[in-house]
Amino acid sequence: MNTICSALTNKYNIAGPRYTSYPAVPHWTRKPSSQEWENHIKKAYQVDATENGISLYIHLPYCESLCTYCGCNTRITVNHHVEQPYIDALCKEWDMYLSLLPDNPVISEIHLGGGTPTFFSPKNLERLIQYIKARAIIHSQHEFSFEGHPNNTSYDHLATLYDLGFRRVSFGVQDLDPMVQETIHRIQPAENVTRVMNWARALGYTSVNLDLVYGLPKQTVQSITTTFNHVLLWKPDRIAFYSYAHVPWIKPGMRKFTEDDLPNAETKRKLYQTGRDFLDANGYYEIGMDHFSLASDTLYIAFKNKSLNRNFMGYTTTNAQLLIGLGVSAISDTFSAFAQNQKTVEDYLRIIHSNEWAHFKGHVLNEDEKNTRWHIRQLMCHFQTQWPAGDQIEKMLITNKENIREMENDGLLVLSQNKIEVTEMGKGFVRNICMAIDPLLQESNQPLFSQTV
Ligand SMILES: C[S@@+](CC[C@H](N)C(=O)[O-])C[C@H]1O[C@@H](n2cnc3c(N)ncnc32)[C@H](O)[C@@H]1O
Ligand code: SF4
Repeated sequence: MNTICSALTNKYNIAGPRYTSYPAVPHWTRKPSSQEWENHIKKAYQVDATENGISLYIHLPYCESLCTYCGCNTRITVNHHVEQPYIDALCKEWDMYLSLLPDNPVISEIHLGGGTPTFFSPKNLERLIQYIKARAIIHSQHEFSFEGHPNNTSYDHLATLYDLGFRRVSFGVQDLDPMVQETIHRIQPAENVTRVMNWARALGYTSVNLDLVYGLPKQTVQSITTTFNHVLLWKPDRIAFYSYAHVPWIKPGMRKFTEDDLPNAETKRKLYQTGRDFLDANGYYEIGMDHFSLASDTLYIAFKNKSLNRNFMGYTTTNAQLLIGLGVSAISDTFSAFAQNQKTVEDYLRIIHSNEWAHFKGHVLNEDEKNTRWHIRQLMCHFQTQWPAGDQIEKMLITNKENIREMENDGLLVLSQNKIEVTEMGKGFVRNICMAIDPLLQESNQPLFSQTV
C-alpha cells in the first residue's frame, strides 16, 4: 500500500496540464488553415486508419441542470427541442469528414461524452449512430462507450445503445453524501445508481465505470468513507477517481460555493488517501492517472501488456491515431495536428450549416513536440520512458536538473542514463514528472491549469 505523505502533496500540488494531449490546449499556437486541416486528415487516414481504424468522439453538451462543480462544456436547458437540430449538425459534420476520405472508414472507437448524452432520447441517439454507421465499417474489436447520468439514464437508453454495439458505460456518481450533493447542486440518491448498474449488467455491458471526485466542497474523510463503502458494493469494473479541478475563472458556476467550503490541501490529501486505500484493499489496480480497474477489465489488460493509450477521451485500449471529434467544443487529433470546435452551440450550428469547419483553435506539431508527446504518453500510460543518446529530452533533464534530482530524492522516480521510471510513490505525481520534461512549461506562469493533486 502506498501512503502519500502530506509534505509531498503540499510540495507538488502546483498547477499543471492533465496531458490528454501534447501540447496541452492552452499551449496551442499554430492553427491549421482549412486546406491544411484537410491535408492532415487525408494523410492520417492514409498512414494509419486503414490499419487501426479511426476513433470518434461525439460531444453532446446538454444537461437539464448545472452541477456547480462541473468543468465540462455544457449547455443547460430543459427544452428537448434542441436535440433534433443538434443531431442534424453532427451528421453534417460527419459528412464533411467523409467527403475527404477515399472510402468508408473503419471505426474502432466511439465515445459519446458531454454534457449528458442521456439528455438525448434513445431514438435520437439511435438516429445519430445509425447515420454514422451507414457509411462506415465497424472494426471487429471496436469499443463503443458513453457517459450516462444515473438520474436520467433509462432502460431504453441502455438497451438501444447496447443493440448498436455499445458495451461500455460510465456513470457519474461523484459523491453520495447528501450535504455534498446539495452543495454541488446534484441530488442523486444511491438507488438511482443501483438501478442503472443493475440494468447495464443485466443487458450485458462488459465494462461499467463509475466517476468519483475528491476535493469537492463539504467533502470530509467520513463522507468519502461512506461513499466508498457504498460504491464498492456495486463492484464497478472501473473507477475514475478525479481530483476536483477548481477553475472558477473559466467556470463561474464554481463561485456558487465559497472557497471556505473546499477541503484544504491536507484534507484533500486525506480524501485521496482514503479512496486509494479502499481501492487497494478491494482489488482495484491503478492504471495511469486517476483510473483504477479490476484485473478482469480490458483497461488493466492493456496496461499489463503495454498497449494502453491516452487521448482526449482519457485512457483507451484502442490505438487509432486519427481521432475525429464531432460537436461543440470537440477536439480532433490527426497525430500531426489538433483542431477544436467552437465552444458555443450557436456558433457551432451556424458554421457547420454554412459548410465550413467549425474550428476556432488548433495546433500543428513540430518534431520536438512529437518527441515530447511520445515521452509524456509513455510516462502517463506505462510509468516509464526511455531514449537513445542525443534525444531532445536530455536538454530538459539538464534544464530541470535540480527539480528532477529533488523528485528522485523524494522517491518519486528513478533516473538512469537513458530511462525515467516512476516509482509506486511517484504514480500519484506523474503529472509533475511529465511537467519536468515539458519545454513549453518553462515560459508560462499564468493560471492556465488546475492543481496537479
Ligand atoms: C460529462 S460528466 C459525466 C456524465 C454526466 N454528465 C454526469 O454528470 O453524470 C464527466 C465527468 O467529469 C468529472 N468532472 C466534471 N467536472 C469536474 C471537475 N471540476 N473536476 C474533476 N472532475 C470533474 C465528473 O466525474 C463527471 O462525471
Ligand atoms: S457533471 Fe454532468 S450533469 Fe452535471 S453539469 Fe457537468 S456534464 Fe452536466
